[in-house]
Amino acid sequence: MMFPLPLKRRKREAASPTESVAPSSLFPDVRIFLVERRMGTARRGFLTSLAQRKGFSVAHEYSGDVTHVVSEQNSLTDVLSWIERKTGKPTQSPEDQESPHILDISWFTESMSLGKPVSVEARHRLGSLEPPESNEKDVLLSVAPYACQRQTPLTHHNSEITDVLEILGKAAAFQGSEARCLGFTRASSVLKSLPFKLQSTQEAKNLVWCGGHCQAVIQEILEDGRCHEAEGLQIREQYQCMELLTSIFGVGVRTAERWYKDGVRKLSDLEDPKLKLTAEQRAGIDHYSDLKQPVTREEAERVERLIKDALHGFTPDLKMTMTGGFRRGKQQGHDVDFLITHPDEGALSGVLKKVVDWMDGQGFLLYHHTKVRSHVQPRRRSTHMDGHETCYAIFALPNLDSLDSEAGVSVVPDGDFPSPGPRTWRAVRVDLVVTPYDEYPFALLGWTGSKHFERELRRFSWHEKNLSLNSHGLYNTEKKCSIPATSEEDIFELLGLQYVPPSYRNA
Ligand code: CTP
Ligand code: MN
Ligand code: MN
Repeated sequence: MMFPLPLKRRKREAASPTESVAPSSLFPDVRIFLVERRMGTARRGFLTSLAQRKGFSVAHEYSGDVTHVVSEQNSLTDVLSWIERKTGKPTQSPEDQESPHILDISWFTESMSLGKPVSVEARHRLGSLEPPESNEKDVLLSVAPYACQRQTPLTHHNSEITDVLEILGKAAAFQGSEARCLGFTRASSVLKSLPFKLQSTQEAKNLVWCGGHCQAVIQEILEDGRCHEAEGLQIREQYQCMELLTSIFGVGVRTAERWYKDGVRKLSDLEDPKLKLTAEQRAGIDHYSDLKQPVTREEAERVERLIKDALHGFTPDLKMTMTGGFRRGKQQGHDVDFLITHPDEGALSGVLKKVVDWMDGQGFLLYHHTKVRSHVQPRRRSTHMDGHETCYAIFALPNLDSLDSEAGVSVVPDGDFPSPGPRTWRAVRVDLVVTPYDEYPFALLGWTGSKHFERELRRFSWHEKNLSLNSHGLYNTEKKCSIPATSEEDIFELLGLQYVPPSYRNA
């Protein structure tokens, strides 16, 4: 089936070849070649620069020094015959030691996510099965309605459209319309799960959640490469202010809306004493410029090391897991999320207070509020409530160089009395959650996200299975009993869902 590109787009893509060659490679044994067939010029260009930024060597032309051939939506036969045509030589057998690995995009995605080449496993290799030609896309277009029934990778093929849908969703939320926001989020999430780049309005017509307004938006972007509505919204003062205000720690849409109505337009307007900020908002404003910088994976790992070492000083076998976006393979996030547990409930009591006191004693604690464990009633409906003992903190992460020296323990962050000389730390948002051992799989599932994936899991449980799921457990509300699980895999199985690994929960 052919889906011709509209003329305008074809021209633009042809005009932007990415032919720059990476100056150096961190991995001398790996030279990647990305097969453009079915991937498209634009995506190939994007993936090429992504890989180069991460220190991979990417060949622009196929040659004998290529070690890893990566393609999308092609069969092994497709790729081999394509190589034959390019080189004019018959391809060696894939088992041949000298032959490059012929791989699916999953090898590439995993390697980028880890920041180094992962070893090639059977699941990465292209099979010799021909993909169904005639109605392949029709099959792919019958996307399952719940995000938890789909695989949604971190990098996908339709960001041009999903970026716009997300702007429209945000604007709807800023106008107080949660339902419209959800509509855009659902459509965006469907497009993120598509294993190919949407190329025609006809294809979009068959997609679940992509009708009505969303369909018009998709059509405009496909035909015109832009969306006037989103462009118009983004330049509105209300949108820009709401975006600024809601990006402050402790400020939700409601507060931001109230402030906007009261005439707040910029951060300095928040210094008005009439506004009565909460301690959380005060801290959010004080550390605004640090907190708006995304937390890198390297920083997240440094926070993890520091807190883990402290925890193990209290109780050696406490288990601490990084959850949230980083567990889904993101390379940066707005905070770092951790889950703490231990098989012995006694070992957990008082642990959060100990960590807080330790952070405070070390000068790491710029702000925190803790929430004690609340008893979460298995309610009639699935609930978004999370009753775990939780600490929402702003952590003063010592700079790399100051961590190496003694300075690591003498960080004295103080907004009011800045110490002379350059700052040796930076503020990072950290969430710490303590969970009883039997609830751990549910907490892990609940705190790994994405938020939309979680919402969909709960909706699926309730509407399709009549079970209530939250980050404490799974409940049969009719029989008034909870259903235990020992792993995330268990929970998916109990819900009759195929297991979705964290890196595919980026719904
Ligand atoms: N979560 C929760 N209860 C809260 C806060 C968050 O259950 N009080 C869950 C969210 O539903 C989400 C996960 O914890 O699934 C992580 O939340 P968050 O840190 O806000 O989002 P991330 O996906 O980690 O995004 P980022 O990388 O930007 O931090
Ligand atoms: Mn997070
Ligand atoms: Mn968080």
